[in-house]
Amino acid sequence: MTVTVEAMSARARPDDQLDDLFSDGWPEFITADREVKRHIGRVRELFEDLELVLLDSDDVIVAAGWAVPVQWSGEPHDLPDGYTASLAQALTDHDRGGGCNTLVVMAAQVHPHRRGQGLAGKLLAAFAELADARELTFVVAPVRPTFKSRYPLTPIERFATWTRDDRLPLDPWIRTHVRIGARVVKCAPSSQTMTGTVVEWERWTQMALPDSGSYVIPDGLNPLDVDVEADLGTYIEPNVWVRHR
Ligand SMILES: CC(C)(COP(=O)(O)OP(=O)(O)OC[C@H]1O[C@@H](n2cnc3c(N)ncnc32)[C@H](O)[C@@H]1OP(=O)(O)O)[C@@H](O)C(=O)NCCC(=O)NCCS
Repeated sequence: MTVTVEAMSARARPDDQLDDLFSDGWPEFITADREVKRHIGRVRELFEDLELVLLDSDDVIVAAGWAVPVQWSGEPHDLPDGYTASLAQALTDHDRGGGCNTLVVMAAQVHPHRRGQGLAGKLLAAFAELADARELTFVVAPVRPTFKSRYPLTPIERFATWTRDDRLPLDPWIRTHVRIGARVVKCAPSSQTMTGTVVEWERWTQMALPDSGSYVIPDGLNPLDVDVEADLGTYIEPNVWVRHR
């Protein structure tokens, strides 16, 4: 499929196209990270030119993704702790006057009917071109592995090493990155922390949570920990850092 790339902000986007694009792919609890809530408004405003869309030949949005700039030494141990820390660092680096050298691809979304057609790879290639245009040296991503929810009891450090017979990663989303030349650099076991009351978690998971303890939840990459006394559910989301070029 031939696609064109544009900044999301280049022109107004029809609501129905955005609704279709984002109609599935994320659990409800994905927005329950308080730190992200604190930062996201400012981040999206400051870096709106780092949000890209892919359009098909009918000018319909088939994929979208967004990124933030940070300063990075190139050493894996200097990467932010994960998704939330990347947002915080992007703001800190901006407030210190910019001068960033790294594009962090935060999220990608392909239209539900257009998945499995290589569009995510094209979107990642568009981010690499954007990094070139901005003279950013590195492109990295804290990847949310889409199949990890099938193995919520497996440590991310093991899951990230699992491969298929063709030696490509078992996880489809990590595989997309690796297929176009990225490599896994390290795991981010606590990339995000989602919290809520027990009632909120019952709503988000559509499960009764009667006791304190650990629960395997739909679309959870890790189990959810519930403390009934404290009326608190805590879920820690693991990611995997990949580095392009
Ligand atoms: C993750 C995502 C961006 C991948 O996009 P994509 O364009 O489908 O990626 P690819 O075409 O490279 O497919 C990757 C692999 O998954 C398989 N796949 C993914 N979705 C599929 C689908 N709906 N039907 C068939 N195959 C699918 C592909 O066949 C491919 O496997 P292969 O390596 O054996 O060929 C997309 O599935 C998506 O938008 N998911 C919801 C949001 C999300 O989880 N984003 C990632 C976290 S930021």
